[in-house]
Order: sequence, then structure tokens, then C-alpha cells
Amino acid sequence: MNFETYFKISYGLYIVTTKSGNKLGGYIANTLFQVTATPPQFAISCNKDNYTTGLIKESGVFGFSVLSEKASPALIGNFGYKSGRDFDKFAGVNFFTGKTGSPIVTDSSVAWFECKVTNSYEVGTHVVFIGEVIDNGSIEEKTKSLTYNYYREVLKGYSPKNAPTYIEKANVEALFADQKKQLDVWQCQLCHYEYEEEKGDPITGIIAGTSFLDLPDDWTCPICGAGKMLFEKE
Ligand SMILES: Cc1cc2nc3c(=O)[nH]c(=O)nc-3n(C[C@H](O)[C@H](O)[C@H](O)COP(=O)(O)O)c2cc1C
Repeated sequence: MNFETYFKISYGLYIVTTKSGNKLGGYIANTLFQVTATPPQFAISCNKDNYTTGLIKESGVFGFSVLSEKASPALIGNFGYKSGRDFDKFAGVNFFTGKTGSPIVTDSSVAWFECKVTNSYEVGTHVVFIGEVIDNGSIEEKTKSLTYNYYREVLKGYSPKNAPTYIEKANVEALFADQKKQLDVWQCQLCHYEYEEEKGDPITGIIAGTSFLDLPDDWTCPICGAGKMLFEKE
């Protein structure tokens, strides 16, 4: 199996929420996409072990917030790595109650939608819910949406076991171990700054894993401003 190919698929990142009775639920999702335009409908794939999945089955509605590129890692950890069965995920989080009753999280988000479930399908470990859009709105128009790629490559995040995109840790490590062997360190001969291909250069927006030779020709040392010509491979 070539696991690297799975990382070529693009996704966004979302907080999917719902309310059943007085119980609130919410989880981080990357598997969410629009399936029809007329009427507008979205699909989500929810692990059967997620607390939120049972609540969506009961309520027949869900909302989701589109996370921003500046999303707080703590918020992602709160909704993506813990279960609402064990504690109140919404304590200290800003949200409002939408038309469907779903709690719509406004922290770290650029837009939100609310849907009424029109269909659901049992797909092995997951339930795929299809939901028709009932209402939506913008929160932070100027900030970019967070992509799964950015989450993985810049924020260095992983998908846990319940995510449809989960890849066993040993396989991910094997994949990165292969890549690591080819990653070099280049040193600026003026100020001795080291460009580590493994880390990239977040200051100038160069993502981790970018080869020195692939840096733009006009890229300069973030410390002293020297051009690429003044770097040597260590
Ligand atoms: C980056 C990321 C993507 C995820 N995508 C999904 C997803 O699409 N579907 C899913 O069921 N779980 C996904 N998860 C896992 C759930 O968010 C996680 O199991 C959560 O703790 C469930 O919370 P709950 O038990 O309170 O519902 C993802 C987690 C992360 C961090």
C-alpha cells in the first residue's frame, strides 16, 4: 500500500456539532464535502464510536464551523482528541444556538452552516450523514480556511483513530523516516543560520520538507538577508 498517495487528497477542517435534548456534541472532521447544489447538501462521515454520532442520529440535525488557518491547536485538541462523553467540550468556547438548535462554534472559524439530515448510510466503522443546508453565515471573512494539508505540514498535526483518514502510526513513521533520509541542512556562510529542510522556514512561509533547491530564487536568509548563493550544504 502506498500511504503517501493518501496525503495527496485535499480536505478542509471543521467542527461538526449537534444538540439532542440537553446534550451538546461536537468533533473535528476533515471528511466533509458538498454533494449536491440543488438543494445544497453536505456529507459527513462520523465514526460510530464518536459521542457526537449518536447525538446526530437522535437529533437529525448538525451544524459545522469552517476552521480558520489561525485556528487554536488547543481548540482542535479539545474537539478532535477528547470525547464529549467524558467532559463538557463547550465550556469556555464561544458558540451560538442555530435554527436547528445545534451549537455553532464561532472561535477560530471563518464560516458556519446548519443542516437537516436527509439520508444516512452505515459504512463499516462510520455513518455517512447527508444534510440539507438550512442556514449559514460568515464569521471571519478575511482569514483563510484551514486545509488538512496545512494542518499536517505546517501545524504538524495527525488524524486520530476515529478519523476516516487515520493511518496507523507505524506506517506514518515509516513514510516520514524515508523522507527524513533525503532532507538536508544548508548553512548561510555569512551569519551561520541553518536552513533545515525538515523544518522549512515558517517565518518566510516555507513549509516543512521543502528542499533548499526548490526555494524561490529570490529567497533570502531570514537572519541576515544573504541570497541562496551564499548557502552551503552541511
Ligand atoms: C484532523 C482530524 C480529523 C478528523 N476527522 C474526523 C472525521 O472526519 N470523522 C470522524 O468521525 N472523526 C474525525 N476525527 C476524530 C474525532 O474528531 C474524534 O474522534 C473526537 O474525539 C470525537 O469526539 P466525540 O466523541 O465527542 O464525538 C478527526 C480528528 C482530527 C484531529
